Amino acid sequence: MTENTKKPGTFKIHATDGNARLGTLTTAHGDIETPVYMPVGTQGTVKGVSPRDLKEIKSQIILGNTYHLYLRPGDELIARRGGLHKFANWDRPILTDSGGFQVFSLESIRKISEQGVEFRSYLDGSKHFFSPEKVISIQNNIGSDIMMVLDECVGYGNDREYTDRSLEMTTRWAKRCRDAYPVGSGDQLMFGIVQGGFHKDLREKSLEQLAEIPFEGYAIGGLSVGEPIPDMYDILRHIAPKLPQDKPRYLMGVGTPLDILEGIANGVDMFDCVLPTRNARNGTLYTSQGKVNIKRAQYREDDTPLDPNCDCYTCRTFSKAYLRHIYTSKELLSAQLNSIHNLRFFLNLTEQAREAIKNGTFANLRKKYEAVYAPVE
Ligand code: GUN
Ligand code: ZN
Repeated sequence: MTENTKKPGTFKIHATDGNARLGTLTTAHGDIETPVYMPVGTQGTVKGVSPRDLKEIKSQIILGNTYHLYLRPGDELIARRGGLHKFANWDRPILTDSGGFQVFSLESIRKISEQGVEFRSYLDGSKHFFSPEKVISIQNNIGSDIMMVLDECVGYGNDREYTDRSLEMTTRWAKRCRDAYPVGSGDQLMFGIVQGGFHKDLREKSLEQLAEIPFEGYAIGGLSVGEPIPDMYDILRHIAPKLPQDKPRYLMGVGTPLDILEGIANGVDMFDCVLPTRNARNGTLYTSQGKVNIKRAQYREDDTPLDPNCDCYTCRTFSKAYLRHIYTSKELLSAQLNSIHNLRFFLNLTEQAREAIKNGTFANLRKKYEAVYAPVE
């Protein structure tokens, strides 16, 4: 088959370096080169960054969220406008999280049962119900390229018995999601989500059950939920290399630059995290020299670029003194310029990882980042 006729869901691995993989995932809105960092656009917009700017910094895919888009503006309103791609003017791939995580993490009053989860809107307190079938129907209305199954993200510190029962239900929910949108019923892909908390055998059990369901990709959920970093790495190192080899692997909601490199080293292909955009708005900027807190007085008259090694609009155009000035003045442009830079840093990190895997130099790349980022965070 030629490049143009590859079916959505096709995943091809071109090179490996240790467990790290260089691949291409085909979607209905084009190919994604992996490993990939996916900017988070919860409300159908990456905060402070236009689609034009997202393309300039080479974003291949963005995230949207079922929970937020269902509550506002509503998935049917989006469907009437031809789907989220048209509505938001983003013609590249979109992945939507199922909303399960938000229902659980926003700690809205909720009731979990075999049928699904009842929750209250964070907007107006109104009652709603998500079943596995419902979240697939919502994601179908949104028209995302990659849909996620409804899962229960068990937090840190839940006991073994609870975690075990929860992962079994997550498996049954995953089956119901697949049944609501069987393989081949359309152009949208569906990923299963491995849970099992911080018990390795339960992680394996969750994976074994999910791997029997034909998903186009598999995600690791339930990490970065308040646990110590060594615990997260312990689970990540144990389970990531065991995920199906021939399918894309997605580590949900993780993490720092070093976490992403750790994920890649263990065979993960896809990442999303709010750190770059959230930190940008707080004035914390990632650079090739380490983290910069732009509000610090030392930058008051610093005429040099934020990161001389960065090719983004912010770094090509403005000085640290100016970025500090607009940050301390609480100007809107500050959030925008900082977000463009931080996203570019994360996108560049995964671009470098892809290049390194191709050249068999991934270990060196990691060492380079560890030299700068190991001391903090
Ligand atoms: N985002 C970060 N972690 C998770 C998770 O465990 N489940 C889902 N659905 N989304 C997530
Ligand atoms: Zn920059």
